[in-house]
Amino acid sequence: MVGTGSIEWSEGTVRFINQAKLPDEEEIVETSDYRRIADSIRRLEIRGAPAIGIAAAFGIVLAVWDDRLTPEEYRARFQEAWEHLSKTRPTAVNLFASLGRMKRAFEETAERGFAGLREALLGEALVIQREEIDACLRIGQFGAGLINPGSNLLTHCNTGRLATGGEGTAQSVIVTAFRQGKVRRVYVDETRPLLQGARLTAWELSREKIEVVLITDSTAGYLMQVGKVDAVVVGADRIAANGDVANKIGTYSLAVLAAKHGVPFYVAAPLSTFDPALVSGSEIPIEERDPMEVTHVGGNRVAAKGINAFAPAFDVTGHELITAIITDCGIIQNPTEQAVGKFLQKKKAVAPVVV
Ligand code: MRU
Repeated sequence: MVGTGSIEWSEGTVRFINQAKLPDEEEIVETSDYRRIADSIRRLEIRGAPAIGIAAAFGIVLAVWDDRLTPEEYRARFQEAWEHLSKTRPTAVNLFASLGRMKRAFEETAERGFAGLREALLGEALVIQREEIDACLRIGQFGAGLINPGSNLLTHCNTGRLATGGEGTAQSVIVTAFRQGKVRRVYVDETRPLLQGARLTAWELSREKIEVVLITDSTAGYLMQVGKVDAVVVGADRIAANGDVANKIGTYSLAVLAAKHGVPFYVAAPLSTFDPALVSGSEIPIEERDPMEVTHVGGNRVAAKGINAFAPAFDVTGHELITAIITDCGIIQNPTEQAVGKFLQKKKAVAPVVV
């Protein structure tokens, strides 16, 4: 399943790989209950910005899959599922963009008396998934052009098939450049506290036969200082109109280090991750998670009992620290507010419907 993506629709059910159990166990979950999808997003069994958007769309389809419902029942179920799913995680805009599209599809069929509702919603969810898969391929093609032969790359968190349903965002750049013979090795930040780098990225890249060196997050600065990193490539969960980027906690520190050491810092993301309605990164809601995710590792307590901890899941990197944003529609070099605005206007990107 990982070979084709991490989530799939199959005759009234959604199948997905439980990312919380990887790499030791490849558990495939099958559900026809949207609440299970919502719980899985919350628990990071399904995670990564595009994957969350795809899963939420399928969750909506599950909520109205019973074709014996009255129009009132359809509306009530849709509304309930939509609200439930929209409260799962606040930072990745893909979730809200996807829910916005499902709402539009629902209202269009409601106007026609609900005829073909479930097919229309399933169709929209499959289009969202297909668009994300295609976007990944194009991000890889655009981004690989920025990578010099013989590069040692550094990446953070997980941006591959698991996170996107397709080839990945930052990971698509890495994999495409590797297939072009340009990548020597990839340093993978373990990505504390939930270890998406150690558990997921190292696993995915080594399946591609790419040389992976796993490092603690705090090793990245040392590697840059001694000239071992040629470029940093990361993904994004939300990009504001001025090019500021929210991504996994620790991304900002990497960007500061990269600027200090003259290492190019690339962000790779589809247009579905842009939120032009937000003027700057300071408006991006940052998810705060259970402090237990810091005091415990793999379910085992590592801090003394009663120690306070703070667990923001994301941070914001100012656009001035970003060398380029690699999108599915091209590259935004030096992503200032003007550059991002001009780019989005040219690509006719519309602001996602954000709740
Ligand atoms: O908390 P997570 O694991 O969902 O965070 C994911 C990331 O920060 C990724 O880097 C991001 O979604 C971009 S790439 C798919």
